[in-house]
Amino acid sequence: MKKKILITWPLPEAVMARARASYDVIAHGDDPRITIDEMLETAKSVDAILLTLNEKCRKDVIDRMPENIKCLSTFSIGFDHIDLDACKARGIKVGNAPHGVTVATAEIAMLLLLGSARRAGEGEAMIRQRKWPGWQPLQLVGQRLDGKKLGIYGFGKIGQALAKRARGFDMDIHYYDIYRQSPEKEKELGATYHMTLDSLLSVSQFFSINAPSTPETRYFFNKSVIEKLPHGAVVVNTARGDLVNDEDMIAALKSGRLGYAGLDVFAGEPKIHDGYYDLPNTFLFPHLGSAAIEARNQMGYEALDNIDAFFAGKDMPAKLA
Ligand code: DGY
Repeated sequence: MKKKILITWPLPEAVMARARASYDVIAHGDDPRITIDEMLETAKSVDAILLTLNEKCRKDVIDRMPENIKCLSTFSIGFDHIDLDACKARGIKVGNAPHGVTVATAEIAMLLLLGSARRAGEGEAMIRQRKWPGWQPLQLVGQRLDGKKLGIYGFGKIGQALAKRARGFDMDIHYYDIYRQSPEKEKELGATYHMTLDSLLSVSQFFSINAPSTPETRYFFNKSVIEKLPHGAVVVNTARGDLVNDEDMIAALKSGRLGYAGLDVFAGEPKIHDGYYDLPNTFLFPHLGSAAIEARNQMGYEALDNIDAFFAGKDMPAKLA
């Protein structure tokens, strides 16, 4: 008999087809989104849950998870929505999808860099609002990327994929991470390592946030960090919104201390800080990082690989707990 799994949101067709071939699938629709109570209720009758970053599995939720659930696999690289310690305490195995997002997210970071440098959002708005007076020498003049220093904070797979792409635009790549890459890797990516975040900040005309959300990184991008960047620097964030102190970012964008922000993620999304809506020097996306079909398929396969391994009594390939 097939094992039963709950999939909390509709996933791409190919992923659903593979899931259905192996499992008896209970698939929740996306409208309205599944509530935590509904997830916990359905969990009573399934053997594993394939969930997304929308389902916040904090300790109180894990504590209420029915005893039969010993496997959670998340359709995301990020796992800040799951309390791993609480899962470990309950003997629940957890896995994520760490690879599929890489290229797609680096592309969105590149798009944010370009869109911020060249004021693409303002231009689009001008046309859509039927306010374009025609070509003008000083209209929406931005800046080129070539020759500019890009500081990448967090040099994992996505940070490195961004470096590779930004080099194609002749940017000068700098990075800081708690792990230093090998000299060969640094040479391949043309990336200069900085021993401290402060050192990276001091050179970053463009600054990209690519670190995961952890107790150490949460809200690190605040007033004092912003003040260490060159005046008018551009920041882009494709990691997690809660790495940024929104009040400080908005104040710096208003004063011109920061030149521009390209943001794909927001603390508390989809409800974002009101201050962003009317700031012209922002280029804002609704968490599009992994929204490419190739990425979403691979994320789904990776999430299913974890579940397959769990039922085969093996370690999940992307085991977190
Ligand atoms: C992830 O996988 O964590 C991404 O944020 C989804 O786009």
